[in-house]
Parts: sequence; C-alpha cells; structure tokens
Amino acid sequence: MSMIFDRSENKAVVALIGAGSMGTAIVRRIATGKKILLGDVSEAVLERVSNDMTRCGYDVETMIVNALDKDSVEAFARQAAQLGPVMYFVDTAGASPNQASPEHIVNLDMIGTGYAVDAFGQVMAAGGAGLLISSQAAYMYPIPHEVESQLVNTPTVQLAQVPFIRDVAMQNSGLAYMIAKRVNHLQAQRAAATTWRERHARINTISPGVVVTPLAYDEFNANGEGYQRMIDASAARRAGTSDEIAEAAAFLLGEHAAFITGTDLLIDGGVIASIRAGQYRLG
Ligand SMILES: NC(=O)c1ccc[n+]([C@@H]2O[C@H](COP(=O)([O-])OP(=O)(O)OC[C@H]3O[C@@H](n4cnc5c(N)ncnc54)[C@H](O)[C@@H]3O)[C@@H](O)[C@H]2O)c1
Repeated sequence: MSMIFDRSENKAVVALIGAGSMGTAIVRRIATGKKILLGDVSEAVLERVSNDMTRCGYDVETMIVNALDKDSVEAFARQAAQLGPVMYFVDTAGASPNQASPEHIVNLDMIGTGYAVDAFGQVMAAGGAGLLISSQAAYMYPIPHEVESQLVNTPTVQLAQVPFIRDVAMQNSGLAYMIAKRVNHLQAQRAAATTWRERHARINTISPGVVVTPLAYDEFNANGEGYQRMIDASAARRAGTSDEIAEAAAFLLGEHAAFITGTDLLIDGGVIASIRAGQYRLG
C-alpha cells in the first residue's frame, strides 16, 4: 500500500535550483509540511536527494532544470507555480573557480542566477521570499562604483556584453567568480526594488565563507594551502557547515525577517574582517 503521510492541500511551495549540499540543507530546514520542487541539472542528484528526503517525510517533486538555459529556468518557475503558492525560492546552482572556465562561471553563477531571479519574479506569491547563495568572494574584488551602477540596471541577457564583464571577469576563473558573486548581490537589490517588490516578495543573498561540501573539497584539493591559511586567519578558526548556512537561511526566508530585503548576509567565520583589518592577505 502506498501511504499518504500528509493530506493537506494548497501547500506553500519551496523551489530549489541546485540540489547540492547547501541547497538541500536549507530546504530540509524550512520545508516540513510544504511542497518541495527540487531542480538540478543532474538526474542522479535529483534521484538521490528526492529518495533521501521522501524517506524522511518530505513532500518532494523533482524537475531537471539547466540554470544556463533561460527557457528551462522559466519552465521550472512555471512548474513551481502550478504546484501551489510559491512562498520560497532558493538558488544554489554554481561552479567554483577551480572547477570551471571564466565563461562557465559567468554563465552559471551570474547569468544563470539572473535568469532564475527574473523567472521567479514572475511567479512569487505575496509574502514569499527568495535567497541566492553568493560567496565571501564577493567581498574580495571591489567593483568600481560606476560599474556597479551600470550592472545593477543591466538586463540579464545583456550582462555578458558589459565591457567590465567582457574584459575583466573573463580574464581568469578567480576574477570571474569574485565578480559573479558580487553581481548576485546587485541582482537581489534590483529585484527587491522592482519585480519582486511588485509581487510583495522579498529577496536576499547569503555569502558563505569556507563551508565543507563536496564542491569545497574540489577547491581544497586544488588550493589547500590557501584555504588553510584563510581558516587559520579567521576569528572562528574553522570551516563552516551547510547546516549553519541553513540556520541563517531559515531566518532570512522566514516571517521574522519581513523587514529584510535586498541585502546580503556574510557568514564567513570572520575571514573578510581579517582581510579588512590587515590580518590576512589573499595570495
Ligand atoms: N562550499 C563552499 O565553501 C562555498 C562557499 C561559498 C559559496 N559557495 C556557493 O554555494 C553554492 C552551493 O555550493 P555547494 O557547496 O552546496 O555546491 P554543490 O556542488 O553541492 O551544489 C551545487 C549544485 O548545483 C548543481 N548544478 C550545477 N550546474 C547546474 C546547472 N547548470 N543547472 C542546475 N543545477 C546545476 C549541481 O549539480 C549541484 O547539485 C554555489 O553557488 C557555490 O559557489 C560555496
């Protein structure tokens, strides 16, 4: 017999693009009693995560979505809206500097995130909230003020043509990542003031520091010494976990954060403070 564990109807929808470590931790933290739409480019990831979550009592549907493809992201947002009122959207799809070319990082971490912000700006329910996962790297390469003013008002499909993106971000994967993650903050600001605001929905970013996940392991393998120095120079003197990010995410997505929109929360154990105070130098 196939049991029905939850008979409630018209449940709030939690949509996630990028069903990796952080995304899954966030959804588990907020989605009890809600309808979950998990999206990822990998069928294997979706199958594993939805099996795990279903067996833990969550109400899960899955859909393949490619964050690089505008049509695919729009179809994913429409599917979320079909399932019920979209109260929560979380985007964690991303590639790190040691995993990908500058083009891929710009296309995924910056433009793909833009597609998602735009698409969910068409379907969010009033009172809903969104969260983009940026990075502490967003604080490591200051973008000139006039360029930020230009980027904040550039439509997603034109971002790759902005001279700063074309000429600076494309130079190497590290620059691409730092700039893409800063642009995520600007994307949340623009949406908070325009499309999401019009729908009475909030949107924020979290910028995690070194969080131990499979993605981070790739980074440690490629640049272990640099990350070790970073951890040692931080006030926390340790790396973080996805569950710590999920705790803050639950706050930002929840009713107690109703006055918070268009902002970023840096959760890095104090790495950026160490850099600003001259205690640690990136190298
Ligand atoms: N782990 C860290 O230390 C750290 C630190 C700062 C920021 N971040 C950022 O946090 C986010 C999540 O990191 P994580 O460690 O949970 O990563 P993860 O690799 O566990 O999860 C990322 C997920 O995105 C999916 N994905 C990749 N390309 C996609 C695409 N084109 N379309 C849809 N899905 C796609 C992957 O299949 C994967 O399941 C990333 O944006 C990363 O840049 C991570």
